[in-house]
Amino acid sequence: MEPIDLFSLSNTDNFLKAKKLRELINTHAHNYYVLDAPIIPDSVYDKWFSELQELEAADPELRTKDSPTQRVGARALDTFASVKHNKPMLSIRSETDTSASGAINFDTRIRKELKLISSDEAVEYVTELKFDGLALSLIYKNHVLILASTRGDGEFGEDVTENIRTIGQIPLRLPPSSPLDLEVRGEVYIRRNDFETFNSRQREKINLGSKTDKTFVNPRNAAAGAVRQLDSKVAAKRPLKFFAYSLLLSDGFDTLFDTQKQALDALSDWGFPVSKFSSIVHGKSGLVQFHEKIGKLRDSLPYDIDGVVYKVNSLKLQERLGFISREPRWAVAHKYPAQEKITQVLGIDIQVGRTGKLTPVAKLSPVFVGGVTVTNATLHNEDEVLRKDVRVGDYVIVRRAGDVIPEVVSLVLPESIINKRSDPFQMPKLCPVCGSQTIKEEGEANHRCTGALFCSAQKKQSILHFAQRRAVEVEGLGEKLVDQLIDNYVINNLPDLYRLGLTALLQLDRMAEKSAKNILFSLEKSKNTTLPRFLFGLGIRHVGETTAKELVSHFQKLDAIMDASEESLLAVNDVGPIVAKSIRTFFDQAYNREVVAQLRACGLKWVESSSSPNVTQPLDGQIFVITGTLDTLSREDAKQLIESYGGRVSGSVSSKTNYVLAGASAGSKLVKAQALRLVILNEDELRALINERM
Ligand code: IVH
Repeated sequence: MEPIDLFSLSNTDNFLKAKKLRELINTHAHNYYVLDAPIIPDSVYDKWFSELQELEAADPELRTKDSPTQRVGARALDTFASVKHNKPMLSIRSETDTSASGAINFDTRIRKELKLISSDEAVEYVTELKFDGLALSLIYKNHVLILASTRGDGEFGEDVTENIRTIGQIPLRLPPSSPLDLEVRGEVYIRRNDFETFNSRQREKINLGSKTDKTFVNPRNAAAGAVRQLDSKVAAKRPLKFFAYSLLLSDGFDTLFDTQKQALDALSDWGFPVSKFSSIVHGKSGLVQFHEKIGKLRDSLPYDIDGVVYKVNSLKLQERLGFISREPRWAVAHKYPAQEKITQVLGIDIQVGRTGKLTPVAKLSPVFVGGVTVTNATLHNEDEVLRKDVRVGDYVIVRRAGDVIPEVVSLVLPESIINKRSDPFQMPKLCPVCGSQTIKEEGEANHRCTGALFCSAQKKQSILHFAQRRAVEVEGLGEKLVDQLIDNYVINNLPDLYRLGLTALLQLDRMAEKSAKNILFSLEKSKNTTLPRFLFGLGIRHVGETTAKELVSHFQKLDAIMDASEESLLAVNDVGPIVAKSIRTFFDQAYNREVVAQLRACGLKWVESSSSPNVTQPLDGQIFVITGTLDTLSREDAKQLIESYGGRVSGSVSSKTNYVLAGASAGSKLVKAQALRLVILNEDELRALINERM
């Protein structure tokens, strides 16, 4: 064996070189990601980065955990591990009085607690933004990031280290000026414009048929989705950002700072992004001014906020104030009123859903409210439109708060136009898509199109429902494609989908041979499915994934479900009268039975289990004993026959035995059965018994 020379010059060189490169890259990454002020061209940065990658590839020993090349993990995880927080991650009390008095209430409470009521001395506060993202804990040991976890239930969070490493703004190694061990808490978020770009890219992918991509309603949900990605390569592509707002030091070091502001400044010195809006104010007037100032700025911030946070600055006073239940007394979140804007209703469209539900949607003149441009607002149903009396051409107040869908709050009706309004809204008598009659059932708020699968909107939606990932999953079959297939009469129903050939697909707009083949392959693949997925995919009203699973575990077989009476359906977990009726109605329609039959004929298949413990079967609860030599069946076959109809086979006769199946030369068991006056059957009688009870 060659002796290993640990101190050979070239090794030391490379070791030092890698260290130097890591430092350079980290410094300039901080300039770029945190300070937003790069001082070298990207090309130089990239050159260093690839040099470091090469060194590490040649000698994996040089690849340290905190190396900037290690931000993206190699493999996707199966799940996130659960981690216990060192100290619980608490929430802050929210002051819901959104006016200035909300801030005054907080100051009054603090003064009372600190017994400062009669003194002139103003309390010193730190005012911060309440970032609208998700809370994160970062743990550093020996200056190196070793764990990042979500808040979870406050006590236990999820280990999301792999994903968090991908965030350029989060230092993987702290400078020598920081304590060796510390915990930083803060908020991961996504900027509004990054969110818009990301979402529109997702929308494109979905339109191209992607089943795995989705859009998000707001930046916070998108950030939460990214943090909880199992594959850090995917997370790395999401535009996550971070703001630090708390520092926790281990015992002995907790005297390093006197105030929250000092801690924030130190965090910033150590390379963490800290909001430049965190500032010191005095007394209630300082709080009110901050609230007002941010209120005015809010729309122009590049990210969403949920309000502002006031914290008592002195850590000693924080300690004195302590906690009420799980919230600190020394901090409060002060919200802003939900944002509202006035805009004009350009039209009221009707959307037709999969089950024929008609939803009126207000088409609005685009308006920027609550951080996004709103062009549509749902009006839910006819009653709602009439209650608000929204008409085309009206001016309305639109509100958007947090992640709530934009809504029309009320009308703005100047005297001058009252007589010039258009007619009150009316739900169309005919479906705007297929022209079938619309109906509103008793006790229901919604109108429905009666066209069922004659209605192309319902047809399209039901095909998309069947093809979705949670149902039989036909990869690549998206909205655009289904629109084309139905609108050009290439297919007319679900089974037609499985009769598609290459020629038919190639006639479609912008359909290349490769994509067409992919679709055919996905269709083929989707034929091997499971019964719960198939059943859910049929789109029976009120039958979601869970109900589909319950139905299958109860009945085992599709035919049994299709033929079950409402009464027997009621015996299934989760199934009440409305669901039972809906299932029965669905399968009473010849058309639906035909669709099922055709899908099966097209080769859709699943494994059906033959024993059904939950369904009442002819021999349910009956105990059999088999004795002697049977005419046509082996003992084993007889046992299987009995069990497949719900009976049980026991080895010995007792008073609990219900039937004894006896063949030729039966011995002592038969004698005992006779003594106990049990029912003794031969094979024919057993079959007759089963038939009788079916
Ligand atoms: S301090 C004990 N500061 O709000 C107080 N939290 O309701 C710990 N948040 O889960 C939190 N901005 O996700 C603090 N400047 C800020 C914050 C902030 C947003 C979030 C955080 C926390 C929640 C508390």
